[in-house]
Amino acid sequence: MTNQRIAKTEILNKVYTADNHEELMDAYQAWASDYDSDLVDRFGYVAHIASAKTLDQALCCQHDAVILDAGSGTGLVGKELATLGYTTMDALDYSRDMLDEAAAKGIYRSFFQADMTKPLPFADNTYDAVVCTGTFTYGHVRGDAFAELIRVTRPGGTIVFTIREGAFEDYGYRAKMLELEVQGDWELLSFYDTPYQIEEENTCKMCTYRVPGAAA
Ligand SMILES: C[S@@+](CC[C@H](N)C(=O)[O-])C[C@H]1O[C@@H](n2cnc3c(N)ncnc32)[C@H](O)[C@@H]1O
Repeated sequence: MTNQRIAKTEILNKVYTADNHEELMDAYQAWASDYDSDLVDRFGYVAHIASAKTLDQALCCQHDAVILDAGSGTGLVGKELATLGYTTMDALDYSRDMLDEAAAKGIYRSFFQADMTKPLPFADNTYDAVVCTGTFTYGHVRGDAFAELIRVTRPGGTIVFTIREGAFEDYGYRAKMLELEVQGDWELLSFYDTPYQIEEENTCKMCTYRVPGAAA
């Protein structure tokens, strides 16, 4: 293994084992410029492609939908959505460095540096859809953040997110999802396993919800 490869593996370990936001943001600051090539080419990350396709199906190709990409990172999901024809997307992430990379792609309308574990900087019912890929995972964001995604999505709107395998079981995401289903805060449309990082041979849960209310 080359020194460069060891260094990159260390960055990935830092990202998944961060104990707090500061450590996590330091790891993303160090990784932001190489994130796309590392994750896609080296680790075979495909969740961004699957998420965009899943959202596209749920929205029935309604290309004027106003979409929040929560935990946008460098904008891999937005890039896929733009290729599919979506034109109005906002990017939200806690890492300034990841948002800067997303801005360079020239596909997002607006950028928000914000913490998904806190109230989001949007009024109720702002978005037709929210997509959140790769952010419900080890060392990142827990299921407590679901309620804010629901609040900022309009009645009849769609929420698509991934949860990495392992973290799904270890962090109790399903219990939180079920709690919100039972309360009638969202309705499960689909839930299945799909490849996450091909080279790492891991999967994620792909989850699609509808916020109850007006017709989609
Ligand atoms: C693995 S990346 C996924 C990025 C992108 N969605 C993708 O699929 O490539 C996870 C992202 O979540 C962001 N993140 C982690 N914790 C966060 C938090 N509490 N609030 C907002 N963003 C957060 C990180 O800065 C990082 O950009």
